[in-house]
Amino acid sequence: MTKDIKQGIAKSMKNIDSANHVTGKSIYVDDIPVRVGTLYACAYGSPMAHGKIKNVDTKAAAEHAGVYSIITHKDIPGENQIGGIIQDEPLLAEGEVHFQGQPIVLVIAETEAIAHAAVKKIKVEIDPLPVIVDPREAFAKGELLSTPRTFSLGDTKKAFAKCAHVFEGQAESGGQEHLYIETQGAYAYPTEHGSVRISSSTQGPTQVQRATAKVLGLPMNKVEVDVTRLGGGFGGKEDQATPWGAMAALAAFVLQRPIKYVLHRMEDMKMTGKRNPYTSDYKIGLDKDLKIVALESTYYQNGGAAADLSPAILERTLFHLNNSYFIPNVQATANSCRTNLPPNTAFRGFGGPQGMFVIEAAIAHAAKELGVDAIDIQRKNLLAEGDEFPYGQIAEGCEAINCWDEAVERYDLEKIKKEVVAFNEKNTQFKKGLSLMPICFGISFTNTQMNNARALVHVYSDGSVGVSTGAIEMGQGVNTKMVQVAAEIFGLDPKRVKLESTNTTRVANTSPSAASATADLNGKALAIACNDILARLKKVAQDNLGHDEKTAIEIKHETVFANNKKTKLTWHELVQAAFMARVNLSAKGHYATPRINFDKTKEKGHPFAYHVYGTAITVATVDCVRGTYEFDCVKLVHDFGASMNRIIDLGQTEGGLVQGIGWMTMEELMYNKEGRLLSNALSTYKVPDIYAVPREIDVHFLNTDNPNLAIFRSKAVGEPPLMYGIGAYFAIRNAVESFNPKAKMAYSAPITPEKVLMGLYS
Ligand code: MTE
Ligand code: HPA
Ligand code: MOS
Repeated sequence: MTKDIKQGIAKSMKNIDSANHVTGKSIYVDDIPVRVGTLYACAYGSPMAHGKIKNVDTKAAAEHAGVYSIITHKDIPGENQIGGIIQDEPLLAEGEVHFQGQPIVLVIAETEAIAHAAVKKIKVEIDPLPVIVDPREAFAKGELLSTPRTFSLGDTKKAFAKCAHVFEGQAESGGQEHLYIETQGAYAYPTEHGSVRISSSTQGPTQVQRATAKVLGLPMNKVEVDVTRLGGGFGGKEDQATPWGAMAALAAFVLQRPIKYVLHRMEDMKMTGKRNPYTSDYKIGLDKDLKIVALESTYYQNGGAAADLSPAILERTLFHLNNSYFIPNVQATANSCRTNLPPNTAFRGFGGPQGMFVIEAAIAHAAKELGVDAIDIQRKNLLAEGDEFPYGQIAEGCEAINCWDEAVERYDLEKIKKEVVAFNEKNTQFKKGLSLMPICFGISFTNTQMNNARALVHVYSDGSVGVSTGAIEMGQGVNTKMVQVAAEIFGLDPKRVKLESTNTTRVANTSPSAASATADLNGKALAIACNDILARLKKVAQDNLGHDEKTAIEIKHETVFANNKKTKLTWHELVQAAFMARVNLSAKGHYATPRINFDKTKEKGHPFAYHVYGTAITVATVDCVRGTYEFDCVKLVHDFGASMNRIIDLGQTEGGLVQGIGWMTMEELMYNKEGRLLSNALSTYKVPDIYAVPREIDVHFLNTDNPNLAIFRSKAVGEPPLMYGIGAYFAIRNAVESFNPKAKMAYSAPITPEKVLMGLYS
């Protein structure tokens, strides 16, 4: 099972959806042909961030021509509760509102335009309550979403007493809008026996199913959720697709009509949560040789108005507080703070990047004070085989130093350094900055229980194969990888394999597609199912060829091999023979990651199946008159294990990197003191375009022979590359400091051109 992929064809296989994507044939929720009688929903969101609801006047909206019905919390047949980890979030506000845009009323109308127009006629009176948007203020007032968590290793008190150098400071990182191209949405209709079927743009079909069942007061078997694919999720649809699915289902169930609700971009931006902003304190101690001896840190996570996934995100911040470094003494506490913003949520990296930014800021701070290059501190402290993470896991198959040294040599860091210095000596208006960014990311859901998956495989009597898993395709290419798994194990042309939609009636109790673990978990479940069928087919082949059970049977390129000799028996004939012999040609597979565990009472264990490593070199050029910048290059070495699909993995690496650069540099979420989102459109919220992409991106695949628990040893790639983007922040800072060595700049991301300009002339 852990063997690498063998079929050469599969390793360079194109994404199975690419042709349909570029010709507009791929189906998203908004493309599903609607049924006769379909009605359209639109939610009225709270105009205030915090207050008591005094009166809800829906009369004018109800009388608006074309409005079919108005739905409030009173119409909910089950429980008005959609909270996942903590039951603290109503589907429709009841009594109080806790963020601007919180859904209060659902308008159902004959067209989408009518629904939107009628929503504007709703009048809600709210008695305002104090609004908190700052996590430190929330913390001071005791507004916490969950119990604070503390990770510790060694003894920081003793360690600091012996440190040659100690530095303290603050670091902040901002939120991030997911900006999936497909907005949130769902299409639901009633089915027989009081059931309901939902097509949802969700990373977590089971989450939508579970929450909807609760809201409707139904058992889960009466709620079917189906997902073809998403036009992007990036974590924003791990938990936050649920309310829209549940709202559409609620209306469909109550009114017994098909209901469609696809959000407009500005509704989506205003009503949904984003990456959690963080503000943190650090105290770092180094010895005279620049070894990091101790770190004390406190993280204040801006959780928004409900827990959503924030407690789990908080945990991953702690798991990544040391990034790719070994720190023998650690004392770190993380607080999830309740504010009156939309509940913040998962976003690629899931709290990891926020933790990693803090240690990188602490190192940069120390380097600056000591007058040394941050690169020297970073290199000296890289994790090595056998080192202990603050949560007790031991680094095994550690590639931190290999990736770093490979990047330094392969890309000739010394030459890059010299070029930057020479450029900066010659130029006054433009300055270049260089940074190195090592990464280390743990693969597995931080919640051990979630690390399992299922798959269902049918081999049809004509030899074609149908595959269902719990994996959701959201652009990351997981469906292509699933095709590869089945084709590889059966020895087939991938064209024989069809990936079915992800559906809760075929594959139940799924974990969301998240944590970068989708291909590992579902791929391994699929491999188990395929191997099950293959074992039966091998027996049929032995019988059919007149061989005994000792004969080694293999299927390669759709042909049966016996003891390494090609036979006349083809895949098609073999399947037919099996069918005639009444052999079961279907199988279910279930996979649960072995070995992983975590004891929350001790905050110790072995939570990750493995870690992914890498190092990026970034060079930025800053225009010291304008404060603008661009990236000359990002050159990185990334640990792919044994990539099973280099094109897809390269796409994930480049996409993640650019998304990380966006978060660190230009994407600036602005809420005012009343909790209103000011950056509520693409005119005020800037995301990377082609001009923001580094002029050169080099990705070197570090292929390693170490065993690992990844599917075909092809390591998870979805999230880790985002963290290379942190290098962009420090490259820009270094350029600014070369223009103005006395620059006073807080460690505050994103480093927008405005902040650069202030730094240049501070
Ligand atoms: N890539 C694309 N194109 N679209 C996405 O929505 N989501 C990211 C990453 N890459 C995403 C993506 C996130 S947040 C995760 S957790 C992983 O893909 C999920 O898929 P995987 O587990 O198959 O890597
Ligand atoms: N990543 C994404 N989602 C999660 C995780 C995680 O590590 N843990 C629990 N839900
Ligand atoms: Mo990804 S943030 O785990 O959906």
